[in-house]
Amino acid sequence: MDEFGFVDRSSSNAEKHTLKKKLFGTDDVVPMWVADMDIATPICVLEAVRQRLNHPIVGYEIMSDCAYRAQCDWMQRHHGWKMDPQWLSYSPSVVASIGCAIRAFTEEGDEVIVQSPVYPPFYDMVRKHNRKLLLNPLTRDEYGVYRFNYEDLKAKITPKTKLLLLCSPHNPVGRVWLREELLELGKICLENGIIIISDEVHGDIIFPENIHVPMVLISEALLENTVTLMGPGKTFNMAGFSISTVAIASQMLRERYRTELQKVHYGEGAVLSHVAFETAYTHGDKWHKDLINHLTVNREMIEQWCKAHPIIGFTKPQGTYLVWLDCRALGMGDRELRDFFITEAGLGLSAGLSFGKEGSGFMRLNFAVAREVLEKALEQLSHALEKNG
Ligand SMILES: Cc1ncc(COP(=O)(O)O)c(C=O)c1O
Repeated sequence: MDEFGFVDRSSSNAEKHTLKKKLFGTDDVVPMWVADMDIATPICVLEAVRQRLNHPIVGYEIMSDCAYRAQCDWMQRHHGWKMDPQWLSYSPSVVASIGCAIRAFTEEGDEVIVQSPVYPPFYDMVRKHNRKLLLNPLTRDEYGVYRFNYEDLKAKITPKTKLLLLCSPHNPVGRVWLREELLELGKICLENGIIIISDEVHGDIIFPENIHVPMVLISEALLENTVTLMGPGKTFNMAGFSISTVAIASQMLRERYRTELQKVHYGEGAVLSHVAFETAYTHGDKWHKDLINHLTVNREMIEQWCKAHPIIGFTKPQGTYLVWLDCRALGMGDRELRDFFITEAGLGLSAGLSFGKEGSGFMRLNFAVAREVLEKALEQLSHALEKNG
C-alpha cells in the first residue's frame, strides 16, 4: 500500500460505512459522501500518539503553547497569516464553534446570512438557535462557476442582520474565493455592522492554480470583524480527534465569544488530540504536499471521465476534495436521481438537495479515495448511464 492507497475502513466504525444502510438503504454502495478521506492519517501523527501512550497517565491536560504556536506557524507558512496564539480558542468541532458564535453575537430573532447551497449544518445551527435564516443564494454561470450575489445581499439586509456564515473554500461548490470577491463581501458586512464567521476548515485543500485568502487578510477592518474557524480535521484526515480552533483578533469579539465558550465547558479537549494537532501542523508539510498531488490526479480523472460523459456536468473544484456534479440533464427528479446513484451505480453520494433547494439535480462526490476506488466508482457510473440509455 502506498501512502494514499486503499485502506479498508469497513471494520473501524467509520461513519461513511456504518451509516450506509440507514442513509442508502443498502450496504452495497461505494461510500463517497461524508467529508473525510479514505486516506491514512499521516504516519507522523499516528506515531506521536502511540508514543504518548508510553506515558501511563492520561489525565487532564491543557493545549500547550507549542501546539497553538504550531498552528500559527503553519498558517504563516501556508497562507501568509501571522496569527497571535493568544487569539486562539480550542473547539471540539467547527460546527460547535458556529453554534457558540451564534449565541455569542446574536439574539433570538436576529438574522444570520447563509449563502446557499451550503454545508447543511449552517442552516441547522441558525434554526436550532431560533435565529432567522437570511438566504443569499450564490449565482451560477453557464460554466457552472458560483459567485456571491452582492445585490441580493444588500437588498435583504435589515437592522436585525447580525452575522454572515461564510464557507471559504466553499462546500459543496468547491470555490476558492478571490481576494476581490472577499473584499466586496466584507465591505458590505462592515457597512452594515455584520460580523463574519469564516469557516475555513477546507482552507488547506487548495488545488495548485488557486490561492486561499483568509478573510482576515483582506484588510485591518476585516481582521477586527472576523471570527475564523479552522483545524486539522480535513487537512490531515483526523476529524476523529475532535480538535479545531477559533481565531479572533478583536479583543472585544474574543471576550464575547469566550464568555459563551465558558458556559459550555469544553475545556481544552483531549490529550491525544493535542499531540496529534501539534505533530500534524509541525511535521505534516510533506504529507500535505503529496496529498494535494494525489487529489489533483483524482480531480483530473473525474474531469476526463465527465468529458467522455457530458450528460454529467462538471466544474473543476478549486478547493476541497468534493465535486459538485450537475446531473440535471438526466432529467430525473431528486428522489429518482438518488435512487439511480444507489441502485444503478452502486454509489453512496450526498444528494444535492440536502445543501439547499439550489442543489436540486446535483450530487456531491467525495474523491478523497484511493485511485482504484475512484476508477471503480467511475466505471460503475459509466455502466449505469449506459443501461439508462
Ligand atoms: C464547511 C464545513 N465546516 C465544518 C465541517 C465539520 O467540522 P467539525 O467536524 O469540526 O464540526 C465540515 C465537514 O464536512 C465542513 O464541510
